Amino acid sequence: MNGRTKKIFRFGENGEFRIMAIGDIHGKINPDEKTEDYLRLINAALDSQKPDIAVLLGDIISGKNHKENRLATPDEIYEGIKVITEPLVSRNIPFAITFGNHDGQTGEPKEVLFDLFRKIPGFINTNESGATGVGNCYSPVYDREGKKPVFNMWFIDSGDRAQDGSGGYAWVDDSQIAWYEKNSDELKKENDGNPVPSLVFQHIPVCEEYLLLKESTILNPYRVRGHGHLSDRFYVKKDGCEGYLGEGPCTPDKNNGQFKSWVKQGDVIGAFFGHDHMNDFVGPVQGIILGQTKCSGFHIYGDGLMQGVRMITLKENDPWHFETEMVRYRDFFGTECNSIKGLLLFPDRWHINVGVTLKVLGAAAAVTAVTAGTRAVIKHRRKSR
Ligand SMILES: [Fe+2]
Ligand SMILES: [Fe+2]
Repeated sequence: MNGRTKKIFRFGENGEFRIMAIGDIHGKINPDEKTEDYLRLINAALDSQKPDIAVLLGDIISGKNHKENRLATPDEIYEGIKVITEPLVSRNIPFAITFGNHDGQTGEPKEVLFDLFRKIPGFINTNESGATGVGNCYSPVYDREGKKPVFNMWFIDSGDRAQDGSGGYAWVDDSQIAWYEKNSDELKKENDGNPVPSLVFQHIPVCEEYLLLKESTILNPYRVRGHGHLSDRFYVKKDGCEGYLGEGPCTPDKNNGQFKSWVKQGDVIGAFFGHDHMNDFVGPVQGIILGQTKCSGFHIYGDGLMQGVRMITLKENDPWHFETEMVRYRDFFGTECNSIKGLLLFPDRWHINVGVTLKVLGAAAAVTAVTAGTRAVIKHRRKSR
C-alpha cells in the first residue's frame, strides 16, 4: 500500500518548483501534421517554462492504427508514446502520468501501457499502491537540503466507465481513497505531525466542480449544458471562478467522497484534471482549488489556438499557496497552425464556445439544415472526451 515514486524531487536553488500539466494529448500511432502542432506546442512551452516535472493528465495515446483501420500492436503503441514524449526525454524532464478513460480503451490492458511507459526515460510512476487502477502513486518534493517533505503530488488513475454499469464516467473508488488517506497520514508523520500540502492530478474531475458554477438560462450565450444527470440544466461560472468554461464538466454521476476525503485529511490545496477538452477554469471550493487543463492534442475536439498547457509554480517558503496559468499555442505561434484553418483562425472570436456560437448563429438564421448539422457536430464532440 505504498506507491511512493523512486524519484526524489527537491525545491530548486531559487526556492521554486514548477509543474507543467499537459491535458489530453490523444496521441496517434500514425503521426501526422496534427501531431506536429502538438509537438510544436510542447517544445515551445518546455523551452519557455522549463518545468521541474511534467504531468500527462490522461487520454494520452490512441490504440488504433488508423492507416490500416485496426487496433495497434504494443510495439506500435510504444512508437506512438515515444513520439509524444520525445520533447520531455530530449530535455531530461521527468514526467508522471494519470491514465484517462481512453487509455483504458486502446485494446491493450493499462498494465501493458504502463510497461511501455516504463521504457521511456524520465517516467516516474510506480504501480505498487495495491488500490484499484494502474499507476496510482505520489511524489513528495523535499526542501533544498533533501531533509523534509515540503510538498507532495498525488497521481491517481480515475478509471474509465462507471463501475455500476450506469453508463457515466468512473469514480475514484474506496480502495483508492483508503490508499490516499493511509499515505497522507504517513507523510504527516514525516512532517512532525503536520499535513504536507499537496496537489492531486487525475483525469476525470470530481463532482464538486459544479460548485464553481451556477445555473443559467438557455438564452445566455456563455452557458454550457450540464453532463449526465445534470444534462437538463445549463451553467455559467460563478464569481471567483477564473478561466474558460467551454463545456459542462463530465464528472461521474456518483459522488464517492474523494473530495470529502481531501477536506478531512487537510493536505490537498488543489486538484487538476483533464478529460474536458474545452475547459481551463480554476476556482476554490471549500479552500481547495479545482482546475481544468484543456487538451493539448489537435486530433480531437478542442479549443484550437487557445489550447495549451498549465503551469503551476510552488514556493518552498510558502507551500500552502501556488500560482497557475495556461500557456497557449496562440502565445507562441499566433494563427500559424496546421490543424486549425479558415474562419476558426480568428483569434479574437475563439474564446467563445464554438459549439454555442454556431448554434446561436444557426438559430438566428433559422436555417434548419445548418442547425441540424451543428447539433450533430456537438453530439459527436460530447461522445469522445
Ligand atoms: Fe477523457
Ligand atoms: Fe480526452
